[in-house]
Amino acid sequence: MREITYRKVVAERFGGSDVLRTVQATLPVPPPGHARVRVLAAGIGFTDLMARSGDYLLQRRTPFTPGYELAGEVVDFTVDSRTPAWLRAGARVAAALTKMAAYSEFITLPLWQLVPLPEGLDPHLASAVPLDYLTAISLLDTHGRLRTGDTVLIQGASGGVGQAVGTLGRLRGLRMYGTASSSGSREALARHGVTFIDYRREDFEVVLREREPDGVQAVFDHIGGNNLSKGYRVLAPGGVLVSYAFSGRPGRMVGDTVRGAARVKFMNLQPHRRTALSMVPREIKADHAGYRTALGNLLDMAKRGAITPQIAATFPLAKAADVHAALERREITGKVVLTMS
Ligand SMILES: NC(=O)c1ccc[n+]([C@@H]2O[C@H](COP(=O)([O-])OP(=O)(O)OC[C@H]3O[C@@H](n4cnc5c(N)ncnc54)[C@H](OP(=O)(O)O)[C@@H]3O)[C@@H](O)[C@H]2O)c1
Repeated sequence: MREITYRKVVAERFGGSDVLRTVQATLPVPPPGHARVRVLAAGIGFTDLMARSGDYLLQRRTPFTPGYELAGEVVDFTVDSRTPAWLRAGARVAAALTKMAAYSEFITLPLWQLVPLPEGLDPHLASAVPLDYLTAISLLDTHGRLRTGDTVLIQGASGGVGQAVGTLGRLRGLRMYGTASSSGSREALARHGVTFIDYRREDFEVVLREREPDGVQAVFDHIGGNNLSKGYRVLAPGGVLVSYAFSGRPGRMVGDTVRGAARVKFMNLQPHRRTALSMVPREIKADHAGYRTALGNLLDMAKRGAITPQIAATFPLAKAADVHAALERREITGKVVLTMS
């Protein structure tokens, strides 16, 4: 084993897309219980853009490499007592990271974080699964505790996370409403059985009061602010408001995120309804086995076509800054995947 020289994207400071640079680095021999992985594809999420701007609570330092999810190929590894039996050099794997670092040609990861790709699953498709779909599982199962026939509201239903919630929600037999505005959202949401609410023209609270007078069993919110109280008010007794927000007003996102989290905790003191916070990187850290089982199942579902992440575009690693700029200008909507040559 020797050092590997490779390229990665680094946000040198917080700021616009121009702070992203492609730099050369070296990867040392992996420590015990770790593998070096050649990254084949890395998914881009809205959280990456927030982190680059300095608006993400869990990424407060620069320099850093964005990206929470990847698919790749194991180069080599150093065994320890927990080395899985399937692990070998050349094995294809996917991972959700607990600390951003995926926009990179190579990465060192702890062995517990690697989940084998099912034979034949396209790594580009696989790289679009981890964060959005694990977040959907956190919302629906860990915090939502929903049953077939329950009714839910998904804020941001046309986004990466929102579409994953819609896909898995349909498989769980939920009745679903979703807010969005993008052109084509109505048809896209209808494919998952989600009733479209255009947040630019309609007030979701008014719509739900009229159509679901007994309330809904869960609201998944990434907007925060006043929307939290509105979401709480449309809950049925026993219902739950789950905040998955790392968002807020431009330039005030960190403060808004913290205030939103405090508000959600405070609301949980009231009787008859629950509130919860979803923070997937922390949930992965807290339950390695649960993470591996959930991601393994999701990758199997992707292989079988039971979930079909929609990839809007793929770009080479060196174009990361252009992709961030295009996403911010809303020239691309939907999931983008970076590919490494
Ligand atoms: N809890 C966690 O661990 C976790 C994990 C992953 C992501 N997240 C967070 O989840 C959020 C979404 O991430 P993503 O990658 O899915 O982003 P995304 O793909 O950019 O989607 C954002 C969605 O928000 C919608 N939206 C924008 N303004 C809205 C408003 N005022 N009311 C309702 N919907 C609105 C957009 O709809 P249109 O485009 O149709 O207007 C779009 O559907 C981010 O805050 C991210 O940080 C949290």
